[in-house]
Amino acid sequence: MEASCFEKIFGRCSELHCFAPGRVNLIGEHTDYNGGLVLPCAIDKGIHCAAARRTDLKLQFYSDSYPQDGVRVYHSDRPDLQHCWADYPFSVILALQGFGYQPASGCDFFFGSDLPEGAGLSSSAAVEVVTAFVLHELFFPFLSRQEMAVICQFAENRFIGVNCGIMDQFAVAMGKENCALLLDAHTLQHEYVPLKNAALVIVNSGVKHSLAASAYNQRRQECEYACRELNVSALCSLSPEEFERKKQSITSSLSRRRAFHAVTENQRVKQAAEALKRQDYREMGRLMRESHISLRDQYEVSCEELDLLAEAAWEIPGVYGARMTGGGFGGCTVNLMEPGTVSDFTGSISSAYLKKQGREPAVYPVSVSSGVTRCEE
Ligand code: GLA
Repeated sequence: MEASCFEKIFGRCSELHCFAPGRVNLIGEHTDYNGGLVLPCAIDKGIHCAAARRTDLKLQFYSDSYPQDGVRVYHSDRPDLQHCWADYPFSVILALQGFGYQPASGCDFFFGSDLPEGAGLSSSAAVEVVTAFVLHELFFPFLSRQEMAVICQFAENRFIGVNCGIMDQFAVAMGKENCALLLDAHTLQHEYVPLKNAALVIVNSGVKHSLAASAYNQRRQECEYACRELNVSALCSLSPEEFERKKQSITSSLSRRRAFHAVTENQRVKQAAEALKRQDYREMGRLMRESHISLRDQYEVSCEELDLLAEAAWEIPGVYGARMTGGGFGGCTVNLMEPGTVSDFTGSISSAYLKKQGREPAVYPVSVSSGVTRCEE
């Protein structure tokens, strides 16, 4: 499909077609930039990209999500951004150059997506990582997946100006089929934890808050403030017991609550990974619920619609656990349930949301997939 779309837009054949998944985080929210643990999964929805090298140095990008923008033209020797979606893939190329990966020629890219945008499922990270992967296939065979994740995060921090952690890019690059990825965001050590005999369903509140990016950066600052007062380099280096002993040194009660979330959430990720290994989904569900409550009350990144979806899900038979997922302020919940209960769940959650919000949420049952890949032509 992407090959024929590429041809229609660029008037020639593409050389390759790659796919980068979106991700859903099971638990470990706002812990990555606090030097802690996260437990995301790559999902079977994502961004497709067809591409071909050029004979000049131009970089051309087209997205079927932004047909009105047409083909955006950039030059690899001019770091000028255009304040549109194509700055994301272009930033990755700028970042690659900064890390010493200079593509030998320009390239044309066509992007297609079945991942909702602004829903907290990492569509930005998927665009970034698929771009890096295409360049890996065409020019840089020694660029590792882990390095791609680091370079894409750098691109987003440095050129897009979003101060995100490493979780999204890492999950998109390194995800594995039917496994959650337990990642230590400080050391990048990671481990795959099988996710068997349970179904994963994402529910999209359809809410996008325009203040999400500034509120995200504000949370980071509140955590940095707490670190300075605690005299630690990262909040998640503290155990809950150490935090209890030291917490009075944080003078702002707001920062103390933010720090409490980060420290306890990190502990929950450890417990959740153990619970998943034992297939103890009741315990996993309990931890997901605690995570939601902490994000709602201590970190204050939830919203009315996400609370409604999580709280309604907790009451539905067959649901082990549910919580908001991603940065927050809108977006999606992640719901873990008994296989075989998905269609009843879909009906119940949709009618609960309809009753209170006057519209139905989008519900996506997902399977856990592998990270970015090259597709057969
Ligand atoms: C966004 C960021 C991630 C992470 C989450 C919150 O998705 O991109 O790095 O901080 O929010 O857990």
